[in-house]
Amino acid sequence: MEPFRIKMVEPLPSLDRSQRAKALRAADYNLFRLESDQVIIDLFTDSGTSAMSAEQWAALMRGDEAYAGAVSFRRFEQVLRELTGHPYVLPTHQGRAAERILFSSLLRPGQISVSNTHFDTTRANVELAGGRAVDLPYTEGDFQGDLDVAALKDLLNRSCGQVACVVVTVTNNAGGGQPVSMANLKAVRSVCTEAGVPLFLDAARFAENAYLIIQREPGYAAYSPREVAEKMFALADGCVASLKKDGIANMGGALTLRDDVLAARCKELLIATEGFPTYGGLAGRDLEALAQGLLEVTDPAYLAHRAETASWFARQLEKAGLPCVQPAGCHAVYVDARRLLPHIPPEQFPAHALACELYLEAGVRTFEVGTLSFGRVADDGAELPADKELLRLALPRRVYTRSHLAYVAAAAGIVASRAERVPGYRIVEAPKALRHFTARLAPIERRKESE
Ligand code: F0G
Repeated sequence: MEPFRIKMVEPLPSLDRSQRAKALRAADYNLFRLESDQVIIDLFTDSGTSAMSAEQWAALMRGDEAYAGAVSFRRFEQVLRELTGHPYVLPTHQGRAAERILFSSLLRPGQISVSNTHFDTTRANVELAGGRAVDLPYTEGDFQGDLDVAALKDLLNRSCGQVACVVVTVTNNAGGGQPVSMANLKAVRSVCTEAGVPLFLDAARFAENAYLIIQREPGYAAYSPREVAEKMFALADGCVASLKKDGIANMGGALTLRDDVLAARCKELLIATEGFPTYGGLAGRDLEALAQGLLEVTDPAYLAHRAETASWFARQLEKAGLPCVQPAGCHAVYVDARRLLPHIPPEQFPAHALACELYLEAGVRTFEVGTLSFGRVADDGAELPADKELLRLALPRRVYTRSHLAYVAAAAGIVASRAERVPGYRIVEAPKALRHFTARLAPIERRKESE
């Protein structure tokens, strides 16, 4: 059961099928363009959508809004220093600001950042800094978030000192929310040390990764999530973190570092673009809510409930006929749209088609992780498909109960039962970069069998 009770509630919007069809048409079949009061259950993201605890709301009132030297920063800094062991803590308004500051301070044009998978904003910030982002995922076994260590060694040997950093994303969001093992982190650490290359964590979901290590990796069952998280951070030279996830608050991010010189350079950029180092891009009250959230997120009962909910939800979806990435992680369940909708080719965006259908069926908003978001367009305009066509059903923290998710699974079952009639989509208009945010799309009318 949920290890909390609910003190404050929000009504769910209610829209019938014709209202949903109208809303989707008006949004040009792009779920980013829906208004949130047109969404009944919102599984679009687990980022910034959490419910805060009574202690976090209480902490907000202690927010010190001083421009410099805010006591709230001291609390935030102490919590992050104790968790990570990294002496320098720079607050930012969200994760991508920390990424921009790190990469533009660290990368020289042409240099390489290696990752298990760069999240889309992380890749964009590497490229904006003039660098090249290389993904080396190793997707086998219980730890499908691991980085391919053999490929990393090979790249280091071939690239003549061009690799400037390694970033391990825990858990690997773009690769199905899968965890990275401690053994893999240790192996990456030793390769980085040998090559003299710094290792950073993209720590957005560090607590969930720690919990999955305890569950799946031999030798960690006796440790607490907090202890495992500390071991993960101990292996890294720093981290970029979107605290909108495991900070259990609605806004915030951080950059933590060990290196004095790099920290000084990053601080300069922080002041110029985010804010004075004792608030970054945040209000004092945000820092307070985050400091408290970062303590709550490693609670074993909370994490057990979260992991259990994700695997239960994946089982319900499988029972309803939707193939899921297994074993499920914590923050989301991913449905394999390529297997469910084999009649829709990648250039007609099968996972996006499933997202639209689920909205039409039940007002549920989900997120495409496939060719629309992660594919590339060749110079001649041809679609270069993504590796996977997944639909992510993200789980906001402490927001929805199992009966909400049972409603989603039932609706998904109805969609699965008429899978062969789900249409593909085409792009009507889209910008070149990060097109999924604003693209306008339309369903492709399917010709009758007799035609
Ligand atoms: N890294 C990872 C692994 C993420 O999942 C995200 C955001 C970021 C970095 C960027 O952080 O949004 O605070 O600037 N992921 C959200 C999602 C948007 O829906 O998965 P941000």
